[in-house]
Amino acid sequence: MDSKDLEAEIHPLKNEDGKLQENLGDQLKKGDNLKSAPPQSRLSRCRTVALFLSLFVCLLVVFVISFIIPCPERPVSEGMWRIDYNSAVTYDFLATKDINRDRVQDVIFLYKNTNSSNNFSQSCADEGFSSPCSFVAAVSGANGSILWERPAAQDGALVLCGVPHPKDSGASSACILVGRSGSFIAVDLFTGETLWNHPSTFRRNATILSPLLQVPDLDASGAPDLLVLTQEDKEVNSYIYSGSTGHQIGHRGSLGVDGTSGSLLYVTRAGAHYILLPCASSLCGHSVKGVYEKVTGRDSPLRRDPSWEDVLNATNHRLLVHSSGAIHYLMNVPGKGGEDLLLVSSDTCVLLDGQELAPRWTFSAPQVLRKPILGHYKPDTLAVVVENGTGVDRQIRLLDLSTGAVLWTLALPGLPGYPPSASLLTADHRSAFFFWGLHELVGANQMEPGDTQHSLYMFHPILPGVLLELANVSANVVAFQVTLLEPGRHAACILLTGPASPDAPGLVSMAKHKVQDLILSSRVVHLTEGGADSDQDIRDRLSRLRYRSEA
Ligand SMILES: *[C@@H]1O[C@H](CO)[C@@H](O)[C@H](O)[C@H]1NC(C)=O
Ligand SMILES: *[C@@H]1O[C@H](CO)[C@@H](O)[C@H](O)[C@H]1NC(C)=O
Ligand SMILES: *[C@@H]1O[C@H](CO)[C@@H](O)[C@H](O)[C@H]1NC(C)=O
Ligand SMILES: *[C@@H]1O[C@H](CO)[C@@H](O)[C@H](O)[C@H]1NC(C)=O
Ligand SMILES: *[C@@H]1O[C@H](CO)[C@@H](O)[C@H](O)[C@H]1NC(C)=O
Ligand SMILES: *[C@@H]1O[C@H](CO)[C@@H](O)[C@H](O)[C@H]1NC(C)=O
Ligand SMILES: *[C@@H]1O[C@H](CO)[C@@H](O)[C@H](O)[C@H]1NC(C)=O
Repeated sequence: MDSKDLEAEIHPLKNEDGKLQENLGDQLKKGDNLKSAPPQSRLSRCRTVALFLSLFVCLLVVFVISFIIPCPERPVSEGMWRIDYNSAVTYDFLATKDINRDRVQDVIFLYKNTNSSNNFSQSCADEGFSSPCSFVAAVSGANGSILWERPAAQDGALVLCGVPHPKDSGASSACILVGRSGSFIAVDLFTGETLWNHPSTFRRNATILSPLLQVPDLDASGAPDLLVLTQEDKEVNSYIYSGSTGHQIGHRGSLGVDGTSGSLLYVTRAGAHYILLPCASSLCGHSVKGVYEKVTGRDSPLRRDPSWEDVLNATNHRLLVHSSGAIHYLMNVPGKGGEDLLLVSSDTCVLLDGQELAPRWTFSAPQVLRKPILGHYKPDTLAVVVENGTGVDRQIRLLDLSTGAVLWTLALPGLPGYPPSASLLTADHRSAFFFWGLHELVGANQMEPGDTQHSLYMFHPILPGVLLELANVSANVVAFQVTLLEPGRHAACILLTGPASPDAPGLVSMAKHKVQDLILSSRVVHLTEGGADSDQDIRDRLSRLRYRSEA
């Protein structure tokens, strides 16, 4: 389409007007040239014809645009949907991706059952597992209908979804599942079909450390590769697999350290990839280049970062952090000119500069039990949500990410097994925060998980003295997310509940609730005295919040 046509589509009326004037102008000019003035009536008739012709063309264009070219249809999302599995078990895994390409994010989760839910045509034996086995299911975010489900592991798995996968018919996306008992499967994200399937090559007594890491394409196959860390005999080993075929690259390599789950991939300011993992009270780090060269004996085009190599001890690859407690969580957080690192040990929370690995601030709290989350308390300024203590002593604090200063504090009793908090950006460049807590009325002595009622609370910094109790839930919450399933539309709360113990199958339930509906039926909790607004005004105000997706 040339630029003139494009212009015509954008400004059809303007262009027709232009042509009309041009035509008339031409005629007038011709008339002038011939020096024989046409009769006045003929000119006006021409004008009338041209006017009606252009009017007709305009109307035609309007008609074509408004009726014949259809508007892209948006599926009608249901405010609430829920699917149940009787006598099943579920795992702490939830992912959202648009699977049926209806521009509504769909939900992927795992459950263990004898048969899949929709029909009994898919059995564990089809994929070589004994029954019951773990299924991976994708459900439509719009209405909860099952898009696909299939047996994927014997008993739980580490899952990584949205890994680019080269396919004969263009690029696709995969979910990779590493079973705890030796299976290793890649399934097509859009159809659930097997892309590759191998037994894994881990040693029998190896414990797989979460998460599964996606590393740059090391075997030049056109897809990112996978790195799995395992713990065997107090030593962390690394295994690299090709993302496109699932075959192991090189052999097993020892990192020479003793570590735990919670590793992450960090890209330094110089573009070097490092694997970081908590190892007791220090932080251990290895360059992906070093690991690759060790397991294959070949050279890798990846880089090392000289300043990181200086900071990490070359013999034991450790960075000592001045904390007495064991490190529990590592997080990449946005910083100035790149990412910084947030380190959470059992008694401190430290922000490390991503370049020098020097502490920027330290927040000491005796009991940090849960992985912090990020959100915006002030517009466009990141805050980190840190929880201190458990039971009736539990306190939630919002700290300014750049300085570590306390912005807001909430005392909210809660149990250690609760799902982490969540946050979601709102249109005013702040965030709504979601916390789980024990219902206020429950006494401190009734702290048995399972039979207590817990509640989901919401907080937004526009009303710092108010907390909304969105819902009471008596089932055990296994996984939880607050997300925007449709860009620019309402926020949704996705709740996966199921038995607390994997040995006792029970009701597994996956539900989506519209946050706005929850707000309208919520209970208002006043944290501070005063405030002239009625409860209904508060609910109305918070229900009008608009959300936006990250980035
Ligand atoms: C599973 O499917 C088999 C048939 O394939 C059926 O006999 C059995 O009752 C089903 N089990 C459950 C728990 O639904
Ligand atoms: C069972 O499910 C599969 C795919 O999930 C589908 O192809 C098949 O038609 C279903 N069978 C019945 C009887 O519903
Ligand atoms: C759910 O929505 C999909 C389209 O997104 C549609 O094909 C399906 O029929 C719907 N199912 C139900 C039960 O409404
Ligand atoms: C783990 O297995 C390896 C060989 O597979 C063996 O050498 C080692 O002793 C085992 N360790 C334990 C703790 O069982
Ligand atoms: C590195 O670690 C080794 C063994 O723990 C230790 O002997 C050495 O002093 C450390 N080097 C530096 C520079 O800290
Ligand atoms: C953390 O909680 C403990 C009680 O569990 C309390 O004594 C302490 O003052 C709290 N510290 C901070 C910084 O919140
Ligand atoms: C939760 O339960 C309490 C009583 O147990 C009730 O007062 C409150 O309104 C409930 N909250 C919601 C959001 O339904």
